[in-house]
Amino acid sequence: MKAELEAIQAEALEALKAVKSSNALESLRIEYFGRKGKLTDVMKGMGQLSNEKRPIIGKLANEVRTALTEAFEAAKNSLNNQQQEQQLETESIDITLPGRKPAYGKAHPVMQTLERIEAIFTQMGFQVVTGPEVETEHYNFDALNTPPDHPARDLHDTFYLTDGHLLRTHNSPVQIRAMENQKPPVRIIVPGKAYRVDYDVSHTPMFHQVEGLLVDRHVPFSELKGVLVSFARQMFGDQTQMRFRPHFFPFTEPSAEMDISCTVCLGKGCRSCGHTGWIEILGAGAVDPEVFRAVNYDPEEVTGFAFGMGVERIANLQFRIPDIRTFYENDLRFLHQF
Ligand code: DAH
Repeated sequence: MKAELEAIQAEALEALKAVKSSNALESLRIEYFGRKGKLTDVMKGMGQLSNEKRPIIGKLANEVRTALTEAFEAAKNSLNNQQQEQQLETESIDITLPGRKPAYGKAHPVMQTLERIEAIFTQMGFQVVTGPEVETEHYNFDALNTPPDHPARDLHDTFYLTDGHLLRTHNSPVQIRAMENQKPPVRIIVPGKAYRVDYDVSHTPMFHQVEGLLVDRHVPFSELKGVLVSFARQMFGDQTQMRFRPHFFPFTEPSAEMDISCTVCLGKGCRSCGHTGWIEILGAGAVDPEVFRAVNYDPEEVTGFAFGMGVERIANLQFRIPDIRTFYENDLRFLHQF
């Protein structure tokens, strides 16, 4: 058995010298150390040895195993080194090539417009607040002086959820939440999403609004006009014409809609403005006393105004997009242009 072990060692060392690839090395390893390997076989046969011989042969077998393990390890390292050197010789990296530039993301066009609107109003002293998109009928309608049978509810095609909840149809409910949380004076804008069952060239089921609210001791209607005229000039340019038309909203009295002169034809009349020269951009009015009562403000003590505008509509006027649904198709060829 001693001779056999020595023969195995010599044979294996000789074979190792001839190995040129890691595949060949692995086959050789299996030939000796595998489950049916030559060395493994000898180790298995040790049980048959007599009690005197077993420790002697056992010691030798261990020595052979250690020596071979080391030799295999060394062969593996030398193969790896050779491979690496070969790679270094044949492969090259051109360090003079310019690096790849990271692609910068940028704000979605609707967000760009929203940020501009926010900047104009915050600079006039309005504070930005937000509120939930899942609302109750109370905040979305009732507290805004829109009782269940009120015809104004028909104007809003509402996404109803369960348990009296709904997706807010406008950002006006945040007026109520803000007034419940603070005493006058209040001067806020509310940017965010609103939802209506609507889908055509100028409507998407989700859209953005900016709601505004100002409440103080004496707030004349002229102050509302002043704020909105200043906004429109900054947003659309100094040459922009504006007009206020009487309108109706349940939460304001009196109410108005504001038009600006068409940005496409500059007021001459074209398809974009339906040949009127004017484009409606927002609704507004003096806060209805009923709304103040709903939040325990005393309408004898305070007055105020509110307004609400659609951000996509304004982005449209800025960028002249014929179909606002393209804002939400996520086509990068479209979005990269802004
Ligand atoms: N909530 C209205 C809408 O979505 C917009 C609006 C009109 C808001 C007049 C107001 C307002 O605060 O006073 O159509």
